[in-house]
Amino acid sequence: MMHSRKAFLYVPGSDLHKMEKAAAAGADCVVLDLEDGVEESSKDAARVNIAQALRTLDFGSAERAVRVNGFPSARCEADLAAVLPAGPEAVVLPKVESAADIERIHALLLEAERASGQAEGSTALLAIIESARAMVELEAICRAGVAHERLQGLVFGAEDFTADMGATRTPEALELLYARSRLVLYANAFGLQAIDLVTVNFKEEAVLIREATQGAQMGYAGKQVIHPAQIAPVQALFTPSEKEIGWAKRVLAEAARQAALGKGAFTLDGQMVDRPVLRRAESLLARGGTNEIRS
Ligand code: COA
Ligand code: MG
Repeated sequence: MMHSRKAFLYVPGSDLHKMEKAAAAGADCVVLDLEDGVEESSKDAARVNIAQALRTLDFGSAERAVRVNGFPSARCEADLAAVLPAGPEAVVLPKVESAADIERIHALLLEAERASGQAEGSTALLAIIESARAMVELEAICRAGVAHERLQGLVFGAEDFTADMGATRTPEALELLYARSRLVLYANAFGLQAIDLVTVNFKEEAVLIREATQGAQMGYAGKQVIHPAQIAPVQALFTPSEKEIGWAKRVLAEAARQAALGKGAFTLDGQMVDRPVLRRAESLLARGGTNEIRS
């Protein structure tokens, strides 16, 4: 079973006030950050704050995750040692480049779980894919991750990816289209959730709505957000609408009626319905509801 991760909210681990707000903001997953949202000089203090926040704040039904520093930084092991005893449900590993990185984080998580008396394998892993190399290595990364039943999702780090590519970020996001499509393809091929890019322009709701709509249409399960105002619109756009649910129910009802008559394909509202359309209706109903667990 996987937690829903429609609104995947980052909050800097250096900011106690924001962590308190994030815990109560209604996100599906709250990601207490030790990586790029935290200034170098505040990183040690952020470790302590995060362990404290995990122990004392009420996150309601939100998943409690920590984004540690990646392997390039040499802080990763100490980050895990500091926060794992406080029992986050998930660890978000940035800068994942290869299957070897997945093996390494899995081993470190096992060690930290044993040391703090938690069930082995109980901490979920989410991998941020944010370089050209990582995009090329996706298949091996996914294989390693699912073999350990540890990896639950791939997160698209579009800003780092753009920098790595020497690309230019444009409003249409065409420069990201291949990578964004590739990530959601591999995620779905391996039964993982795909979490879409951050809309950094948090003051413009129209931009958020456009980018969230695209991500949901592409098959992403959720989206990274950086501000509480982004949570509700993202959750709404990653949840099937009443209209879509109504359509799916009618398709299934009509399909049952037609099947009884021995018919495969039939017409509904002037459109052909066959097996693939039925599957789309079923998958849409499986995604219904706001805080549901999606497997
Ligand atoms: N989590 C929880 N609370 C947040 C928040 C977040 N990510 N971002 C803003 N808030 C809070 C603010 O503290 C403020 O609370 P207050 O009214 O009680 O003071 C309220 O929401 C409104 O915030 P606002 O004034 O609009 O923004 P800001 O200038 O305080 O913060 C950012 C803007 C971008 C610095 C902030 O949203 C942020 O730190 N986001 C996360 C950045 C991050 O983690 N990046 C790395 C991952 S990509
Ligand atoms: Mg990044």
